[in-house]
This record gives sequence, structure tokens and C-alpha cells, in this order.
Amino acid sequence: MSESTTIRWEQDGTGVVTLVLDDPAQSANTMNQAFRTSVAAVAERAEAEKDGIRGIIVTSAKKTFFAGGDLKDMIKLGPDDARQAFDAGLAVKRALRTIETLGKPVVAAINGAALGGGYEIALACHHRIALDAPGSKIGLPEVTLGLLPAGGGVTRTVRLLGISDALLKVLLQGTQYSPRRALENGLVHEVAASTEEMLDRARAFIDAHPESSQPWDVKGYKIPGGTPSSPRFAANLPAFPANLKKQTGGAPYPAPRNILAAAVEGSQVDFETAQVIEARYFTELVTGQTAKNMIQAFFFDLQAVNSGASRPQGIEKRPVRKVAVLGAGMMGAGIAYSCARAGIDVVLKDVTAEAAAKGKAYSEKLLAKAVSRGRTTEADRDALLARITPTGQVADLAGCDAVIEAVFEDTALKHKVFQEIQDVVEPDALLCSNTSTLPITALAHGVTRPLDFIGLHFFSPVDKMPLVEIIRGEKTGDEALARAFDLVRQIRKTPIVVNDSRGFFTSRVIGQFINEGVAMVAEGVEPASVEQAAAQAGYPAKVLSLMDELTLTLPRRIRDETRRATEEAGGSWTPHPADTVIDRMVDDFGRPGRSGGAGFYDYADDGSRAGLWPGLREHFTKPDVDVPFTDLKERMLFSEALDSVRCLEENVLTTVADANIGSIMGIGFPAWTGGVLQYINGYEGGLPGFVARARELAASYGERFTPPASLVAKAERGETYHDG
Ligand code: NAI
Repeated sequence: MSESTTIRWEQDGTGVVTLVLDDPAQSANTMNQAFRTSVAAVAERAEAEKDGIRGIIVTSAKKTFFAGGDLKDMIKLGPDDARQAFDAGLAVKRALRTIETLGKPVVAAINGAALGGGYEIALACHHRIALDAPGSKIGLPEVTLGLLPAGGGVTRTVRLLGISDALLKVLLQGTQYSPRRALENGLVHEVAASTEEMLDRARAFIDAHPESSQPWDVKGYKIPGGTPSSPRFAANLPAFPANLKKQTGGAPYPAPRNILAAAVEGSQVDFETAQVIEARYFTELVTGQTAKNMIQAFFFDLQAVNSGASRPQGIEKRPVRKVAVLGAGMMGAGIAYSCARAGIDVVLKDVTAEAAAKGKAYSEKLLAKAVSRGRTTEADRDALLARITPTGQVADLAGCDAVIEAVFEDTALKHKVFQEIQDVVEPDALLCSNTSTLPITALAHGVTRPLDFIGLHFFSPVDKMPLVEIIRGEKTGDEALARAFDLVRQIRKTPIVVNDSRGFFTSRVIGQFINEGVAMVAEGVEPASVEQAAAQAGYPAKVLSLMDELTLTLPRRIRDETRRATEEAGGSWTPHPADTVIDRMVDDFGRPGRSGGAGFYDYADDGSRAGLWPGLREHFTKPDVDVPFTDLKERMLFSEALDSVRCLEENVLTTVADANIGSIMGIGFPAWTGGVLQYINGYEGGLPGFVARARELAASYGERFTPPASLVAKAERGETYHDG
């Protein structure tokens, strides 16, 4: 074999061949051209030398088992590359199939993460033993990148687990399992505590299965639970399209649809044909726009953001040991939990010790649930809780090297609490505020060390939301920015970095979405159509229901403050068409949103939503208004994308990756778009197409859709929104 092989062939004296996945050119194994050549060569050699082989173990010399497809290659594939993508995929599948049907026992010794292509290699083995390595993950997450597993992943999971389990447990959600949970769900057969144990057990499996006693039937594979044509299965089949609708909300996600089709069609034909069907559906996805968007966001942009593209260079890391969380309300309680979960000691301070204890009780509640579901142990729960010290005393904050303030949204109160604590905590402690609306630069006036002061905007519920928006004030120093960035990474969240401005990036841009939805109500559009448009555009929360959650008085207050500030600064203020509806809802109808018991929706006594308020139709809807449904959807998406361009122009945003990741992970911009700026890149016709459509929307619905000058110029230069 050539020297550039990515698979080492190691044969012992007893006829056991170990195939060691070890790409010499990369830190992780991927399904690149070198691998494709190597796997074909290995399969050929195994076939030729099979008489001297008793069994095969597949393992890896890297930290991970195998990282999966090479996304750098995939993202470049266009419609013209369909044939090449199809053939390349098929060649790997053939090689794996040759090894699988050699007639010898083949064992996967999964020494680390086996996701996507990695798990597909393991699936082609007859027996899978996973090392119980911390953080190791197993599964087929392709759907989360707009793809489907095309290395035999659909074909084999259907044949191993049955169609229902394959779809629901593995393929449609792309769940990543820990080795133990992979075992519970039938993805692997054994879990080993050490590498030696794993390899010993692999050899034991080979010893127990001489060629004559193969218990597996990989040629035909009987599908557990039956095929769609069997009567038992047929009864469940209609549920799948409904599930699919639920998963995608009717938004343009082609991957779940193609996965379902490949699984069902592939289950009714022989193995080889099923693999071809799988390849066809994959090729359609990989050469399309949605997969490009999702790979760009969830792989490249996420990596750029998390690896510190926006972190000042050359500043040493100093992990936080003890954090002061000021305010034990909804946000403070969640922040305390997230910090303690990452091993940081937390002093949780509220006005009284009782109020602080209530904040700690939130962690107790979350952990009780986690213990009962087997997601954590009692010992880990106790250790985490022991790290949170609730208090009403400022003196207890001594020794804290970082402060995160989450008291009521009130500038004077925030100034006061920082004054109370700044001489008690460490003299160089990082000072953060979780304000959601107050400009950081102004808040910094209240501390003696504005250089160390920064915004750390968490999202609710903190334990679930992965994003933190870091806001740099005018006086914030590089050191503080780097430390805030490192703190967010330390608590295993994703940081985006923005410059101070009203509403920062996330609140400002989501405000456009909400206003656009309300503007439609103002024009007389049926409120149900507005909600439907948001769902079909792919928003996780419908626009009017989201407005109710936030309460109508909040954006109104922000609007009034912004108007005052703009006018004071000599600027001119343009009212938004949404304004009158919001004012009438609050002032005339007494419907301020969910917390007030009534908003765009009615609420039952237990607080659950009880349908859109019929009064909306009575007071606002005009039967002769007919806005095309596509316009409703695109107005929501365009309003956010256009404002993000303005954020770039105003230097609120400094990278494209921050915009894309912040919009998807913070404010629910639909994931299929790849984020606010990738949506512009991927729009039909590219940037020029987007600009033309924005002009159309501006002509029909208002100046707010006029494309900003920098976007027009970029379109004319033939560029796209990319960093670097
Ligand atoms: P909350 O009302 O649930 O909690 C505020 C807590 O601060 C209360 O427990 C109160 O007793 C405590 N507090 C008041 N004065 C204090 C003092 N002098 N010392 C110590 N504690 C004091 O409010 P929530 O929702 O947790 O919000 C807190 C901050 O987080 C606000 O600035 C808010 O704008 C911001 N925020 C809120 C988000 C949300 O979704 N609710 C999202 C992101 C930021």
C-alpha cells in the first residue's frame, strides 16, 4: 500500500488483523480522499488474504475514533458536482460492505467519539465495543448539518434497530449519545472501562466466533419490527409525516424529509439497492443550499466563535475560581447553577439570605430532575450544591475574582450594588452586568474601574441557552474582554462579542422581527396567518406569542427611551407601523402580555395559552387585505438580516460568525438559513438577488427594507459575507 495510507494494517500471529485509523496528515481522521483510497485498498487486501485472517478489529490511534465527513470539501460541492459526490460515497460504501461480508468477525473498538462517518464505520462491523471515555459521543448528527448519513448509516440503522427506532432515536434528531446511553439505546453492544479491556473483549469476540458459527446475517439483514409493507408496521406509517411536520414546523429543512424517504424506500429493497437510494438522497442534500448554510454556521462559524476569533490575542488565561452573582432572581439563579456546574465556587447574593436561598433552590430543583433521569449522580449533585453559598451579606463576597450582576433592570440600583461590593471582592475582579437593555458605557460610570467593566448578556433559561453576548463598553479594556470571553468558555457556553449600542445586537435585531409581525397585524393581516408565516419561515417561536412572553410594555419602554435619546442627540425619529397596535393593546384593551394574563393571546387560569384573542380580528383585521404568504415570511427574515447589516456598518458587530451564531443560538433566527448574514449569501441569486428583493419589499411595505449602502456595494463587488 502507498505511504499516505490513513489506515494501518497490523496483523498478529493468530490471524487477527487490527485496522488502525490514523491519518498522518491530520489530528483527526476524516472521510477525505486519502481515506477513500485507503479503505478501498484495505478491503481489497482483506479479500485477497482472507484465508489467513481469523477476525478484524477496527480502532483508531487518534483521540477520537473517526471525525466523519470532510466538511471543507463538502461545502464546496455545487449541483455540477452531483455525480462525483455520488460516486465517491458509493466507493466507500462498497469497501465497507466488502469487509462486512468477508465472512470473518469484525469488531469496532470505539476508543473515542464516533459521530457521523465514524459511527458508520462502526456500524459496518458486527460488534461494537465503546470505551467509556469522558466526553465521548456516538451517533449520526448529519441531520443537524442538513445532511443524511450516507456511508451506510441510514441503511444499517434501519436494519439493526428497525425503522421506528432508527428514525426516532438516531436519524431524525441526530442525537449524540454518551457511550453508556449508546449502550442503553442499542447503538453499541458493550462498554469497556479501559483501552486494554476494550481490545481484550474485541479479541474475545473473535475467539468466540469462528468462521463456521457466525451469528449475524449481514447479507440480507432482517428488519426488526418489519418493513412498511408488513401489516404491523403499516399501522404506524402515517405517524411519520406528522412527526416530520412537527420537527420542521413546515420550514424548508430538506434533510429530515430525505432521511425519512431513504429509510422507508430503502427498507423495501435489498441492501445494495438501499445504499444507492441513500446515496441519491444524500447527493441531493449535499449539493443544495440548506446544507451549505448549516455547515457554514454549525461547523465553521461555531468553531470560529468558540475558538476565540473575537478574543484579544496575547492575554494569558486565568480561570475564574470564585464568582459573585448579585441578584438571585430568575437570571441570577440560572447563572449560579451554570457556574457551579463548571466547577466554579459561587457566592449568590440577594437582599436577604432567604431570597438568596430561594435562588439556590432553583439548582436543587434542576439537579433533582437530573438525578431522577439518570443524567447525574447524587455525589455530583451534592458537590455542585456545595459550591453555591447563598448570602445576604456583602462581606461574604471576599475573595471573588469575578462578579456577575443580575439585579432588577434599574441603572441606579445597579450602580448601588456595584458600589457596595467593589472594595470587598478581589481588587482586580472582573465586573460584569447581565443587563438586557441598559447601555454598558453608561453603567460603567457607576464603578471605580470601568476598564474591568463589561456586559455579559445571558439568555433565559440560562441552564439551557448556549449563548452569551459579551458587550464591550467604550472604556472596557482588552484584558476584561479576554477574561469575560474565557469565563463564558469556562462555563461551556458560546460567546459572541459586540460593541455597546442600544439593545446590543441580539435584542435590537429580535426587536425588528417582533415589530414586523405586529406591523402585519396593523395592516389588517389575519393574526393566525402572521403566526403561521413565522412557523413556516422556521422560527421556533411564533411572533405574536413571543411578544406576549416578553410583554408588550418592555419594547414600548425601550422604544420611548430610544426616541428620547435619539431626539436629544438631535437625530430624527421614524415611528414604526407596529407602534399603534402595541399602544392600543396596552392602553385601550389592557392586554400587556402573558404575565399580565392577556395579550395577543388569551390565557387560561393556569397560565396556558388559550388561542389568539378574538378581539384582534374585530379591531385590526381587514378582510380585503391580501398580503402574499411569501411576503409575510420574507419580511420577518429580511427585517432581521437587514438590521444585522446595519449592525456591521455601525461596528456593533465585528465578525460575520458572531452575527450568524448569535442570531441562531440567541434569538431563534431559523437554523436552515445558517444565520442572518448567511441567509443573505444563500438567498436565490446571491447578494444581488437579495438586494433586488429588499428593494421590492421596500416599495411595497416601507423604507425599512431599503438595503443599506454597504450591502449594495458588496453585491456590486460580487462579494459575500465571510470573515477573513
Ligand atoms: P428578577 O426580578 O427575577 O431578579 C432580580 C433579583 O435581584 C431579585 O431576586 C431581587 O431580590 C434581587 N435584588 C434586588 N436588589 C438587590 C440588591 N441590592 N442586592 C442583591 N440582589 C438584589 O429579574 P431577572 O429576570 O433575573 O433579571 C435580572 C437582570 O437580568 C435584569 O437586569 C434583566 O434585565 C436581565 N436579563 C433578564 C433576562 C430575562 O429573560 N428575564 C434575560 C437577560 C438579562
